[in-house]
Amino acid sequence: VAIRILENIEKLARSRAVPCKALLVGSAARDTWLAGDHDLDIFIGMPEDNDLGAALDLAREIAPHHEEKYAEHAYVHANIEGFEVDLVPCYLVKDASRIVSAVDRTPFHTRYVSQRIPGLEGDVLLLKQFMKGIGVYGSELRIGGFSGYLSELLVLCYGSFVGVLNAAGKWRPGEMIEVPDQSHHEPQNTSIAGRVQEAWHNDPLVVIDPVDPKRNVAAALTLDKMFQFVAASRCFLRQHSDKLFFPPKIAPLKDEELLDLMDCRRSALVLIEFDAPPVVEDILFPQLRKAEQSIRGLLERNGFGVLRSDVAWHKVTSDVGDDGLARMLFELEVWELSQVKKHIGPPGWEAQHIDRFLSRHAKPLSGPYIQGGKVVVEIPRKYTNPRSLLISEMDQLSLGKHVKQQLHDGYKIYEGNELIQIEDMEFRRFMTAYFRKHMYIC
Ligand code: UTP
Ligand code: MN
Repeated sequence: VAIRILENIEKLARSRAVPCKALLVGSAARDTWLAGDHDLDIFIGMPEDNDLGAALDLAREIAPHHEEKYAEHAYVHANIEGFEVDLVPCYLVKDASRIVSAVDRTPFHTRYVSQRIPGLEGDVLLLKQFMKGIGVYGSELRIGGFSGYLSELLVLCYGSFVGVLNAAGKWRPGEMIEVPDQSHHEPQNTSIAGRVQEAWHNDPLVVIDPVDPKRNVAAALTLDKMFQFVAASRCFLRQHSDKLFFPPKIAPLKDEELLDLMDCRRSALVLIEFDAPPVVEDILFPQLRKAEQSIRGLLERNGFGVLRSDVAWHKVTSDVGDDGLARMLFELEVWELSQVKKHIGPPGWEAQHIDRFLSRHAKPLSGPYIQGGKVVVEIPRKYTNPRSLLISEMDQLSLGKHVKQQLHDGYKIYEGNELIQIEDMEFRRFMTAYFRKHMYIC
């Protein structure tokens, strides 16, 4: 199928005199795609001084039924003969350190890996499936895990699947890795230390891109996913089990199961649901996470301890939107706080501040009194339940542009047992995963 698509692009290009070259890149070009995955990454490379518009037009015409997507620049996504195909215009630059946009690096990755990976494809597949099984595979922002290219570099670096797991056991946050290049027979005398980039300081893992040494291939990896991988690697090395590669499917919770689990915990579950804005996942997820953090902060500041929270994008179409529903779940320790709260003021030796403090709190429920050297009053709380707090204060938070707009247009709040009113399977699976959260940790 890939060869057919490449030929069609080149034929059309010749008839239009477009000076491009069609390239198969990604895992399909390297014999490292996982069974069951049907994605093809095809790039349409243009000489540097040309416009990418002509390449985009070719892509549109090759796949009449397509969707246009946008990363750093526009590309085409289509289903062709049962494959999910990305047709991505890029520049054919001479050197990967002189790229115009991030996708221009990809052909260099393919060349680098294809030349070195023969004989190790099986190890890459084991590593990818292992990472997928434990939930750390994929560099999209929703996941924040290991990309396919990163897993290939790790196998090249440590020689085998088990070699990677063993090495991971010694990783620390801030770990820095350089893939040794077999084509250099003399030892490379440039130390990593001299080439550390400013941008890497907060990255938990740095794997220097062999085709562009200023770039960290693991830039998308989060600290949690890194150590989820490390801990699961230890489990596998201690006790080989194929469960790690193929975890049991998550069954959606039935009404009674959901009610039982909620009853075991007796926590205060609050769900905020709204129409997902019409943006791609890599834009929506960071905004959902930002909103989640802001709302957690609001709840905590107002005395509601947050046990855990999570966000999801469920593709069910609602009455109003076709883009599915965004959901944010907060699990609080209490439903209702006391009406009275303690309010701590200035230290007993700051007369001016005390005057101002007392004039603001002229009629407290109790106090003023001194505790720990400070003036304290006990006053009524503004919000004693999470619903009233959220309704009144949520729109003043920083929530991410699209999420803020959508929440402004309307949302629903479900509390506790009201959650069973939501019957779609995606939500029920999300709740199963939430309650049964359990990782392989050794
Ligand atoms: P893919 O995400 O399709 O990865 O990106 P893949 O290597 O083909 O792996 P699977 O088997 O589909 O999961 C295609 C190419 O884009 C570049 C890489 O060169 C990759 O091979 N890429 C993608 C990156 O450099 N970084 C990323 O985070 C994602
Ligand atoms: Mn791919």
